[in-house]
Amino acid sequence: MMKSSGDKMRVRKAVIPAAGLGTRFLPATKAIPKEMIPIVDIPMIQHIVEEAVRSGIRDIVLVTARHKEAIENHFDYNYEIEDTLEKKGKQELADLSKAVGKLCNLISIRQKNPMGLGHAVLCAQPIIGNEPFAVLLGDDLIDSEIPCTQQLIDLYHEHQASVVGVMEVPMEEVSKYGIVGGKMLSERLMHVSHLVEKPAVGQSPSQFAIPGRYVLSPTIFDCLKNTKSGKGGEIQLTDGLQLLAERERLLAYQFMGTRYDTGDRLGFIDATLAFALKRPELAPGVRELMKKHLK
Ligand code: G1P
Repeated sequence: MMKSSGDKMRVRKAVIPAAGLGTRFLPATKAIPKEMIPIVDIPMIQHIVEEAVRSGIRDIVLVTARHKEAIENHFDYNYEIEDTLEKKGKQELADLSKAVGKLCNLISIRQKNPMGLGHAVLCAQPIIGNEPFAVLLGDDLIDSEIPCTQQLIDLYHEHQASVVGVMEVPMEEVSKYGIVGGKMLSERLMHVSHLVEKPAVGQSPSQFAIPGRYVLSPTIFDCLKNTKSGKGGEIQLTDGLQLLAERERLLAYQFMGTRYDTGDRLGFIDATLAFALKRPELAPGVRELMKKHLK
């Protein structure tokens, strides 16, 4: 059946770049992908995939690299584990393992050279084609009632314009992020006219930072093809977005939710404690442990 153009403009796919070496988490990442490091007992990438799935997305494009096969295996069935558990009558555990296999369609494509985040997103073009899509970066966990990606998708559908999620950060932290500048349209929504990747303090267009959530029109691919290498000699997604903002409307939305920077050691511990305290079976024990360590 032919798809109507209305269908075509709906966001159905998400790209998760996962080709990085994860050197910030060495030695943990020497033999396992950093995306597989768990927050409590759920690998970081599963938290990210679950956000996409809760936002109505089933097709996840993983931009991957050598030595990342563990991620693909994680989102598949594991007959050995599941069959053994079932035979032992441990159905609940078997179902827990199977549920991850059922979560999504994982489609992977390799980023053969580490040429930056913008280049990683461009690698997904053969799978995304001419459709809008979400991008979720694996180092940022966002805890919110309505998933952050869902918030951005709703705005994309309403305005038919690309949207990046933003949060306000202290001035001394602007150089850790892509920063947007533009005109506020309402309390949380901005029409973006310019973006800077990791500006120096004092040269930032605002304090609105992009913590790794985007919903983009396919025009971004053409923009990324024309993006010259920027910060760190890499093709930056933020620079591609600058070209997009010059060609099409680009919005920034101050999303609702709490964000954890799990790419940073303290942020990782913060997320671990927060997610453990949300689990009724773990919370009392974790509180006791915290009291013990603070003595
Ligand atoms: C990347 C992006 C940056 C964004 C950040 C969010 O940087 O380049 O624009 O704000 O992710 O985590 P990285 O942290 O990979 O250096």
